[in-house]
This record gives sequence, structure tokens and C-alpha cells, in this order.
Amino acid sequence: MREKVSDYAAHFPKSNYFIHLVIRGGGRSSESAGACTAAPPMKTGGAAQSLPFSGRKRSLIGDARKEREGGSPAPGPSRCTDNLVFEEKDGKVTMSILFALSDEKNTRLSKVTKVFETFQSRIRHMESRPSRRSRAAEDLEFFVRCEVHRSDADVLINSLRRVAEDVRAVPEERAPWFPRKIGDLDKCNHLITKYDPDLDQDHPGYSDPEYRKRRSVISELAFSYTHGEPLPRVDYTAEEVSTWREVYRTLRSIYPTHACRQYLENLVELERHCGYGEDSIPQLADISAFLRERTGFQLRPVAGLLSARDFLSSLAFRVFQCTQYIRHSSTPMHSPEPDCCHELLGHVPMLADKEFAQFSQEIGLASLGASDEDIEKLSTLYWFTVEFGLCKQDGSVKAYGAGLLSSYGELMYALSDEPEYKPFDPEECAIQPYQDQTYQPVYFVSESFEDAKLKLRQYSSTIRKAFSVRYDPFTCTMEVLDEPSKIQSALSQMREDLKILHGALGKLA
Ligand SMILES: [Fe+2]
Repeated sequence: MREKVSDYAAHFPKSNYFIHLVIRGGGRSSESAGACTAAPPMKTGGAAQSLPFSGRKRSLIGDARKEREGGSPAPGPSRCTDNLVFEEKDGKVTMSILFALSDEKNTRLSKVTKVFETFQSRIRHMESRPSRRSRAAEDLEFFVRCEVHRSDADVLINSLRRVAEDVRAVPEERAPWFPRKIGDLDKCNHLITKYDPDLDQDHPGYSDPEYRKRRSVISELAFSYTHGEPLPRVDYTAEEVSTWREVYRTLRSIYPTHACRQYLENLVELERHCGYGEDSIPQLADISAFLRERTGFQLRPVAGLLSARDFLSSLAFRVFQCTQYIRHSSTPMHSPEPDCCHELLGHVPMLADKEFAQFSQEIGLASLGASDEDIEKLSTLYWFTVEFGLCKQDGSVKAYGAGLLSSYGELMYALSDEPEYKPFDPEECAIQPYQDQTYQPVYFVSESFEDAKLKLRQYSSTIRKAFSVRYDPFTCTMEVLDEPSKIQSALSQMREDLKILHGALGKLA
């Protein structure tokens, strides 16, 4: 189900406006929605740069760009009507109306309410402020959100014009659908590109029917998964473990000199608690339980690439969509798509770091309800940070991006003298041309995760949206801060938290 997003703040944007009257209606109308998904496809480079690199199958940024340009990136559930958040329901539409009253005795207000009553219009929200066009203190401007039958909408406006001044319907600010509770992610796991070695002659498993069969069995586990169920366990074959072993052994040998400190510390923990090692492929269920204890992140299985919007929205709930299949055994050091080697070796260790987890969630939160253009920019930010980010550490540059940490070839290249380094700047990073056919010519270097998070937060605040969101970790729901009362409630909670911290400081003193 999707809900409307109020935009009245956009019409009463001044911070000094005063609410004289607030009338609340019932619950918001809603509609059902489909969804589609994608995970960022990563290349995992060869053990040496001389190995051929056939490029990424698709990219998160490319998918976002296609969505923005209105293209249908792949077969699957369409969201072409998803921009219509304020949709008609049962013949009724929700309207936002502004009007003014200059009336010493407020008698005309009763006439206005009579108009709404005549058309059986349900007022869902009403507020007023001193008129900005009149000097008379008693003159007021009103904002009303109401539900009315579509066929009565124009007549209602015309009738209001007889009893009020400056009557106008306010264009609705429409926001793309986004999940409001963690269970909504079940609607965000449809593939826009079902990456299928059956269909791609360049896929290393194209000519291997056994691999294709195995791949579909594991994908089916993800297709049938719904939130709250135990994460499916895969009984990996000896051939699959052998592929994992080669990847693990090769990458593990260069991590101490190339990976950032946080990655190394968490990898040791994963080896200790989650079965990381050369001899077995770790299970999502064990890793997810580990991550939940460390940072609140959890995994959910995904069958392949997700749309940029749905992949990023999962991060807002601290959910990482994770493939379970492994690359073809003929190319252990290369995969044109994300697989469990990329997810478990590239992403998971970093998701166990609190600062990085917060950074990842911030990108997800920024994506909720964002325009397609902003989704493309956030995808590019994600690309150059979570996937290919570098950071300064102890006087040198280290890798924290999953695309690097799961690719021997690109990890060696990224920390060589060849590529250009730029200091992490979200504005520049979000529009940096990316490379999906070879290694990146440019990498962004963060001073620290804390610094990157602060810069990202500043960048996110510039994304134009008619509302803000706040994640409630207790209920795993996304609160849309689109009414003053909700903001006041959130502030009250923060005051309570601050009291606790203040009390703690007092005890220390
Ligand atoms: Fe990735």
C-alpha cells in the first residue's frame, strides 16, 4: 500500500507562520503498488590485469538513468504510474485548496464550511495564518486538504470563490512510492533485470546447463522469501566451495595491505563467528544475525539486480539485499554481476562497522521519495563510495568499497599510481562519469567515515522533497515528517533522549 505525502508545508513554508486552527481528518487514503528491484552489479577483476574484463552486466547508475529517462529497463512489474501518489480512489480525489477571508466577524467562514458540507467534501486537514496580502489583523489565509468527488471538484472551487477571496487549488507535490515499514520491502524485490545465463552468450555459465539449473534453484529461494521468514540456507556443492576458496585465498592475501582498518577488524570477527574461511561459503542467516548485533543491519536474499530506487530504499531500513549464488567455476576471479563472493567479501565486513552502516543508511534515507534525477545522483554517490570508495588511514590510502574489496585486479589498480584521486565531495561525486567497462579512472578519497557522513548529510539536505523522513528502529517503520505535530512529537522524543544524556553527564561529573 502506498500513502499520500502531505505537501502543505511547501505552501506554508515560512518558519514564522502561526497555526490558528488544525482540523484532522481520518487516515490517509492508500493504494496498492508493485515494485521492482536491483543490486549494484559489480565486476570482480581478474587475478591480474591482463585477464580480459568484459564489463559489468548492468549498473545501478545505468538502471537509475533509464528510469529517469522513462525507459523500461527490463521486463518485470512496471511502476509507470508510481508518480501518482495522490490518486483518485472510489471516484474521489484529494485536493489542496488555498483561500483568504477578510471578515471581521468571521461569518464567512461558516459559509465556506457550508460549501464543503454541500458537496459532501471530507476535510482532512485545515489550518490558517494571518493574511500576507492584507494589513488587517483579522484577515486570514486558509489551507484546506479535502476529499471530494472528482465530478464536483471544479464546482466546489467556483462555489468557494463566491464566499472567499483568492481561491485556488494547489498543485499536488507528487512523490514516488517508497516503503513505509520493513515488511514493505517484500514489494521491493522484483527484478528489473532477471540476469539469466540462459539469455546472455557472454555469461561464463551460458554454455553450462548444470550451472543454469543450479542458478535458478538458488534464485527461487529469493523469489519465494518474504520478510520475517528464516533466511534460506544453501547447501553449496564442492565445486562451488572450490570457487569460493580460490577467491577467498587470493583476496585474503592482499587485504592486510590494501583494506581499511575497519574491514580487517570485522573480517577477523566474521572468521571467528560466521564461518568465514577458505573451506565453506558462509550462510546469510548466520551473517545477518551477526550484523544485527553489531549495527542493526540485516540481510535478505535477492535473485539478481534490483532497481536503483528499491535497492537504495532497502538501505534506509538497514536491510542489505544479498545474492546467494556464486560465479561460474571457469572464471573464479571474474564475475560480470554481483554474486555471493562480492556480497560476502566486499560488502558484509563494512556493514559491521557502525559509522559505515550509518553512512549507508543515510544514502538510503535520502533516496526515499526522491526524484528519478536525484536517484541517479545518489546511485552515483553510492557507486563511488560504498562500491569504489577509498579513505585516508594512518597516512596512507586504503580501500573500503565493496567493488574493490571483491576484485583483486581493481583493488591492486586503485591503490597504484595510475588512477586519479579526488577528495570526497558529494556534489562532485554525484555527477562524476563512471566507468563500467574497465577500472575507474577516478576514485574519491574520504577523510573518514564520519567526515563522509557529515558531507553526505549536507548533500541530502539539498535534495528537494516536500517532506523529511525519520526511521523508527523500534517499529522498523519510516515516519514521514509532513505535519507540524509529527515534528513536535519527534522533538519531544529527542528532548527525552537529551535528558538521559544530560543525566549521564551529571553522574560522570
Ligand atoms: Fe555491490
